[in-house]
Amino acid sequence: MIVGVPREIKTAEHRVALVPAGVESLVGDGHTVVFEQSAGDGSGFSDEAYRIAGASVVSRAAEVWAKAELVVKVKEPVEPEWPCMRTGQVVFTYFHFAASEPLTRAVIRSGIVAIAYETVQLPSGELPLLTPMSEVAGRMAVQEGAKYLEKVYGGSGVLLGGVPGVLPAEVLIIGGGTVGAHAAKMAAGLGAHVTLLDLSLDRLRYLADVLPPNVDLLYSNRHNLVEQLRKADLVVGAVLLPGAKAPKLVRRADLKLMKPGSVIVDVAVDQGGCIETIKPTTHENPTYIVDGIIHYGVANMPGGVPRTSTLALTNATFPYTKRLARNGWRNACKQDPALLLGLNVVEGKVVYPGVAEAFGLPLTDPQTLFMAAP
Ligand SMILES: NC(=O)c1ccc[n+]([C@@H]2O[C@H](COP(=O)([O-])OP(=O)(O)OC[C@H]3O[C@@H](n4cnc5c(N)ncnc54)[C@H](O)[C@@H]3O)[C@@H](O)[C@H]2O)c1
Repeated sequence: MIVGVPREIKTAEHRVALVPAGVESLVGDGHTVVFEQSAGDGSGFSDEAYRIAGASVVSRAAEVWAKAELVVKVKEPVEPEWPCMRTGQVVFTYFHFAASEPLTRAVIRSGIVAIAYETVQLPSGELPLLTPMSEVAGRMAVQEGAKYLEKVYGGSGVLLGGVPGVLPAEVLIIGGGTVGAHAAKMAAGLGAHVTLLDLSLDRLRYLADVLPPNVDLLYSNRHNLVEQLRKADLVVGAVLLPGAKAPKLVRRADLKLMKPGSVIVDVAVDQGGCIETIKPTTHENPTYIVDGIIHYGVANMPGGVPRTSTLALTNATFPYTKRLARNGWRNACKQDPALLLGLNVVEGKVVYPGVAEAFGLPLTDPQTLFMAAP
């Protein structure tokens, strides 16, 4: 099969969908990889590294799109890419269709087979192609929080780990899923005193077993939250209600309870945020201040560390890419229920309920696609 990797052209996107090790593996399996020149630059992978791995490096995105039977990307196709998509071509990437009707309609018109990273789902309910980005964001939340606590950035001037004779910072983490657990691990590793709130007792029990002793685990309710906000130097928002907007747990009036110069990093900002005063910001201009509290609301945190994020993402996506190349999308999806759930739009038909519901479009049962198969 011919696998294509175009350069990401969405603003400030520096990740790439395939690393040289992936190219080497695909070429070893007998596939051809067509790679757009400089697509790996932002993640620190040179064209030369891709050539050595066996890719055919071409200068124009149009050539990649024209040749590839399977296109692997990171972000959804943006408008200039829409005319390049062609009937029957498989595109494997983050799509987030429900966020954009124009994209959904363009993909329906194009006739491609759109397999979305974000809806690939294991029988356990886990979303294996979203998890790595939550891991990155959780760890990064603490790194960014520590930075903005520094005086030069307007912070209170507290060092996360303290020193002998001086107490460490208090870090409050709201939500103990993937983001929260990784934030807790980082903050604890730096020597801070961490309190993590979650609603799930099972999750709290599990975290009690795996996190170090400088992490306290507390049931999430209004009383406990308010008590912890008074003490916190850094607050990390990491709550998720699947398929819904994040609940606004920290209210504007609560900021007055906090110490001036404290920092809030609301990782959940991409689902509206769990802090009432949070709004989405960018890596170029990540923070703003409300009532003396620094707010960090970058909605694509992994984009700030593209080298790590590319490796983490491709570690998770590559096994699926390999199977799609080896077996074709029909057989790969038939054999793997997790990948089957990644199918969103197939040759003009919407097959994922969330996408059909979002725009009132007719829904096709993906099983019928296999019955029609030759
Ligand atoms: N900003 C970014 O760049 C970025 C990157 C990755 C993920 N995210 C976002 O981070 C958020 C968290 O992601 P995740 O992968 O950790 O989700 P997750 O499902 O693994 O964890 C969410 C946790 O929130 C807990 N929770 C729900 N209601 C709560 C409440 N009232 N109080 C305390 N805890 C509560 C749940 O029990 C669960 O443990 C999501 O919105 C995700 O989209 C943002």
